[in-house]
Amino acid sequence: MSPIPTPARRPLFAVPVAWACLASFGLTGLAHAGEVEVLHWWTSGGEAKAAQALKATLQAKGHVWKDFAVAGGGGDAAMTVLKSRVVSGNAPAAAQIKGPSLQEWAREGVLAQIDDTAKAEKWDELLPKVVADIMKYKGHYIAVPVNVHRVNWLWANPAVFQKAGAKVPTTWEEFFTAADLLKKAGVTPLAHGGQNWQDLTTFEAVVLGVGGADFYKKALVQLDPAALKSATMEKVLITYKRLKPYTDRNAAGRDWNLATAMVIKGEAAMQIMGDWAKGEFIAAGKVPGRDFVCAPAPGTAKAFTFNVDSFAMFKLKSEAAVKAQKDLATAIMSPEFQETFSLNKGSIPVRLGLKMDKFDDCAKLSSADFVASAKSGSLLPSLAHGMAVPSAAEGALKDVVSQFWNSDKMSAKDAMDKLASAGRTK
Ligand code: GAL
Repeated sequence: MSPIPTPARRPLFAVPVAWACLASFGLTGLAHAGEVEVLHWWTSGGEAKAAQALKATLQAKGHVWKDFAVAGGGGDAAMTVLKSRVVSGNAPAAAQIKGPSLQEWAREGVLAQIDDTAKAEKWDELLPKVVADIMKYKGHYIAVPVNVHRVNWLWANPAVFQKAGAKVPTTWEEFFTAADLLKKAGVTPLAHGGQNWQDLTTFEAVVLGVGGADFYKKALVQLDPAALKSATMEKVLITYKRLKPYTDRNAAGRDWNLATAMVIKGEAAMQIMGDWAKGEFIAAGKVPGRDFVCAPAPGTAKAFTFNVDSFAMFKLKSEAAVKAQKDLATAIMSPEFQETFSLNKGSIPVRLGLKMDKFDDCAKLSSADFVASAKSGSLLPSLAHGMAVPSAAEGALKDVVSQFWNSDKMSAKDAMDKLASAGRTK
């Protein structure tokens, strides 16, 4: 067995031998005091602006930012690189790790506890409980949350809609009506990037829009085999596959931000993507409500699929390095940073009680829906963005969804069998 896992979707956590060796490698940590190496995958226009805000915040505290950016939307490439760095005993100070993966990393004993910082700054009071729980391992904080992204969004170019005489859809049936009109007008109705995490991002929106919040929970969070193989799932798969003819021929392999650029330029009418897409519109100087519109993905207005970005802190040796790391955690939770970062990133602050007056209507809607959906039981973890299930099961489901999207031969029934067995992946 190789000590360094390479395939992008193979979970590190399936390589116990490598992990067993970790303790003896020892983590070397930072080269000098005050330097914080931060792994992330924020390399698109909007993402890079947001990452720059993080860098500036840390530098303002007198520390040195060492950028460890690994390009690739959704972070699969970044996770592969992180695993090899950790296995070779050279962990960064902080890494963008999210959702149940935080627990997987913590179980390996490589993450540092940041309870003292969290207690001193009252994180338990400043964070929604659902978020605080994700940041803790056995009751101890091991990560700091950055923001809340809503994933179930539809981004649309209103000028293109107007030209085609179409209306921004609120249901899947309306979507297909609009898509036909847009196609006739000579525009690509749906901008898509054929990478597996983008296929899954679209799929989970269809699961939610067609099946509703309870079905989403059963199928994509509890991985209930009866839900994964059900009449509702069949309807979901058929609806999902109906979208493909409305995408363009060059979709395969396209990066998500290039798909967003198609909507910005009016080459395509819509994109289904989390609100990091808004960061691209904003970075391109576009104004929400005028140059682009945001709407909940069809049929999902009352629900909210969340994606919380967070940084896990790795165990470091030098005291100065640990101090810099804690300063980073403090900076991330500060009201100023929470605001500046999300204004660039397209997200909303994760810290409770912050004013939203500098934010646009998309963010205000997101903020209101986050609260309302938490009350009504339709605040749901995004499967495609590492929030819902352990990474191995997510990878297996992601593979099936992309196979189904790309194959001309796989029936919805075949796909359901494969989904049910992928759901059993440990
Ligand atoms: C998500 C991540 C976002 C955004 C997106 C595209 O998984 O949480 O912050 O960067 O990928 O890269």
